[in-house]
Amino acid sequence: AAELQEGVRLKHVIFAGQLWPQLLENLADTADQIRVMSKSRPGQDFLRDLLANKRAMLYFTQPSTRTFLSFTAACQILGMVCNEVRDASTSSEAKGETRFDSIRMFSSYFDLIIMRSPLARLAESCAYLMNDLERSGQRSVPIVNAGSGADEHPTQALLDIYTLQRTFQFENPMDSPVSRLDELRSSYGYSDLAKGLSDKTYCFCGDIGRGRTVRSLAMLLAEYPGVRLVFVTPDHEKLRMRDDLRQRLMQKGVPIFEVDSLEASVNGKPVIETLDALYMTRVQKEHDTADDAAAMAQLDLTPYKLTTTLVRRMKAYAPILHPFPRDQHFGEIPAEIDADPRAMYFRQARNGMWVRAALLAHLMDADGQIDRYYHRK
Ligand code: CP
Repeated sequence: AAELQEGVRLKHVIFAGQLWPQLLENLADTADQIRVMSKSRPGQDFLRDLLANKRAMLYFTQPSTRTFLSFTAACQILGMVCNEVRDASTSSEAKGETRFDSIRMFSSYFDLIIMRSPLARLAESCAYLMNDLERSGQRSVPIVNAGSGADEHPTQALLDIYTLQRTFQFENPMDSPVSRLDELRSSYGYSDLAKGLSDKTYCFCGDIGRGRTVRSLAMLLAEYPGVRLVFVTPDHEKLRMRDDLRQRLMQKGVPIFEVDSLEASVNGKPVIETLDALYMTRVQKEHDTADDAAAMAQLDLTPYKLTTTLVRRMKAYAPILHPFPRDQHFGEIPAEIDADPRAMYFRQARNGMWVRAALLAHLMDADGQIDRYYHRK
């Protein structure tokens, strides 16, 4: 991982494990500053000039709505011009060009490459290619992993953490739900609720085995003291937590609990009543082989759908997150829950735009300028 950093600054963003709590705080501060500045014309103008001489390539060979569009919007906020390849068959890869040659070409024309691929290690290999080029005195640009196979989605984890930080800080002056939560905290008697991400129970529900967002977020949450992680999954080898993640979390000493229902007991109480945040996921059928699909058809997946009855049993402040898309056919979060103040998933998606803008500013070494403008007298 040292090869992916430059001191305390990220050089490439490939794994969630590269991010640490202080950096996450700094990125959240920058995201908050960008959010506030974007409300005024002078702030917008300042931001739009900031990276006006930079260009970004979005190389997305796997479907995306949120990640692609929020990175595009983040580039636009900072004045970066962006271009895209979303279908490799329209590029010279159709003529036999390798992905590595494609990436090298992108680095000739652009200052940053944001990439999503079905291949788990491609972004990592591209980052090392860039480092090799740099060592030989050639042009090299930052690589940002915007989702790699079923492995990692570090910038999703970044926006998930940002959403949780804003939910649990209780003193945000901006348009967050926290002032309301602060009120709930006193009205409902949660006075012992710790500020920040530490000392909390986070529950992940659904397809944990193939959910790259869960893998990335669980690794980040493991960095906070007093965190407990509960995984609610069907009893199927493809859907349960993978051994490598279990080992990594255990090495970090995080208490983990694996159960098969939100109503199952952990430490003598139903999970649904004790969790501090709930992270729902969809069953990722796109990874199914024919055998998997047949086996899944035999499973009762009803316990992995949230209902209004279950939501009523949750703590009054506990946010409901989902990386989205949700599956309209499966219905892991029915639309009637959207109006609940704890339903955070649309805010979460918008937060992605602010924190991805903060990440771009960090990678382009422009976050200091934002901070100075924000605190100018
Ligand atoms: N959460 C997420 O990665 O969404 P998209 O696949 O739409 O980018």
